[in-house]
Amino acid sequence: MAQQDNQFKRLVSHCKEYGFIFQSSEVYDGLSAVYDYGPYGVLLKNNIKEYWWKSMVQMHENIVGLDASIFMHPKTWKASGHVDAFNDPLIDNKDSKKRYRADVLVEDYMAKIEAKINKEVAKAKKRFGDSFDEAQFRSTNPRVLKNQEKHDAIGKRLANGMRDNLADVKALIEELGIACPESGSKNWTDVRQFNLMFSTQLGTIAGEEGKLYLRPETAQGIFVNFLNVQKTSRQKIPFGIAQIGKAFRNEIVARQFIFRMREFEQMEMQFFVRPGEEMKYYEQWKAFRLKWHKTIGSPAEKLRFHDHDNLAHYANAAVDIQFDFPFGFKELEGIHSRTDFDLTQHQELSGRKIQYYDPELKESYVPYVVETSIGCDRMFLAVMSHALTEDVVPDANGKESTRLVLRLHPAIAPIKCAVLPLLKNKEELTDKAREVFNKIKFAFDCQYDEKDAIGRRYRRQDAIGTPYCVTIDFDTLEDNTVTIRDRDSLAQERIAIDDIVKTISGKIDMSTLLSQL
Ligand code: GAP
Repeated sequence: MAQQDNQFKRLVSHCKEYGFIFQSSEVYDGLSAVYDYGPYGVLLKNNIKEYWWKSMVQMHENIVGLDASIFMHPKTWKASGHVDAFNDPLIDNKDSKKRYRADVLVEDYMAKIEAKINKEVAKAKKRFGDSFDEAQFRSTNPRVLKNQEKHDAIGKRLANGMRDNLADVKALIEELGIACPESGSKNWTDVRQFNLMFSTQLGTIAGEEGKLYLRPETAQGIFVNFLNVQKTSRQKIPFGIAQIGKAFRNEIVARQFIFRMREFEQMEMQFFVRPGEEMKYYEQWKAFRLKWHKTIGSPAEKLRFHDHDNLAHYANAAVDIQFDFPFGFKELEGIHSRTDFDLTQHQELSGRKIQYYDPELKESYVPYVVETSIGCDRMFLAVMSHALTEDVVPDANGKESTRLVLRLHPAIAPIKCAVLPLLKNKEELTDKAREVFNKIKFAFDCQYDEKDAIGRRYRRQDAIGTPYCVTIDFDTLEDNTVTIRDRDSLAQERIAIDDIVKTISGKIDMSTLLSQL
């Protein structure tokens, strides 16, 4: 646990130190759970978005894009159920005055039981070595079984309480002896519902009539535009609409860096299908989305499906793709079979018919929807947490030294190539390096760097994940060749200046990645 905490702290400070992510309004001591992306962060985030967008829109002839507004007619949120049901169960500690999500307090308690079980399993694994049968151990060891039973019983009671008995959630917190993590006090208020939507006021209309919400999900912009898009793009069912955009949630528990933010970005795709065919597409999208994660380099063992215990009001099936973040397995992406709930609701509240005429069936119906929804910021965190590694490499003098390296897939690395003159104070080298930089900068994101010794510059590029460094030395002046250094293998090759773009393009090309999907 302590190792995971350290790993996470290192990641957060790395993001700040190297210009990936800053706390919003830091000069005013920051705004909680709101973050700004720095020079390398914005490049990496844009590349993640490009990978998602191309894999959805460019690669599927039956998926088209949309960029809907953040503000929508207030009835949208009544229809979608967000006004009445987009709540989190809130609990206050009367002594510390700190506010918590009641379900998170219980889930944290459950995570501790899970950690105990895992510790027990790890100990046994060490003891028995290769002959260890984990499944058998988990199903027979009395201590593991007892803890598992306790864990599952708490989970079940929490799920029931969350559905319709918040008083029992409070009772559960008290029975488990859960204390305020800040003060240790067990003096709790009742659990009550708290709506997560931010609201603001339209300048021209006073009172409730002019109340607007900042969208808590991008999906509704897709639903209300269903007919506009279907008709103008002449798509036939099944087809999808994809969108990337900001969403806002007044999260009670805002922690774990960019995992849970109040302003964040979603990448969502709504796939419209014939009623009754939704489960077929649900399974297809589950498989495709998992493959998408693996293709960008997330290892299989860090990804898992987790079926929802409690279905949202609009869903008839729902699963999360969880990622093993430095603080454990947590939701990275949701795949939901949303039935015809949203379109039907908008049809009813708007009074307009929102239906599709199916030329094959010769009938009109409200389509069913399978949704894939991933937070761009969470994907950023997943990618960074997996990529940031420490390894031991020989330094310029051949001695072993530790380096921090961000092993991002080259296609999403913020800077693709750094151009480095071997020495700073040799004008002939710096002039040549600038010439090379100005030649290749049209092809991809490059960086020119002449400050500090070459070894330190390599380390700086490793830390921001630059897959290739091109060094201009005295031989370059003679024969127009450079050395190209590979971030991961550290291999250095000599190539002609004229071949730099071709050599690097082949390795960073997003289309190579897409062709593996
Ligand atoms: N349209 C469906 C929807 O919004 P969700 O599970 O509430 O479903 C989808 O959100 C994804 O958005 C999550 O899997 C997560 O990646 C991301 N997300 C949700 N809330 C977030 C938050 N407060 N901060 C960062 N990302 C968040």
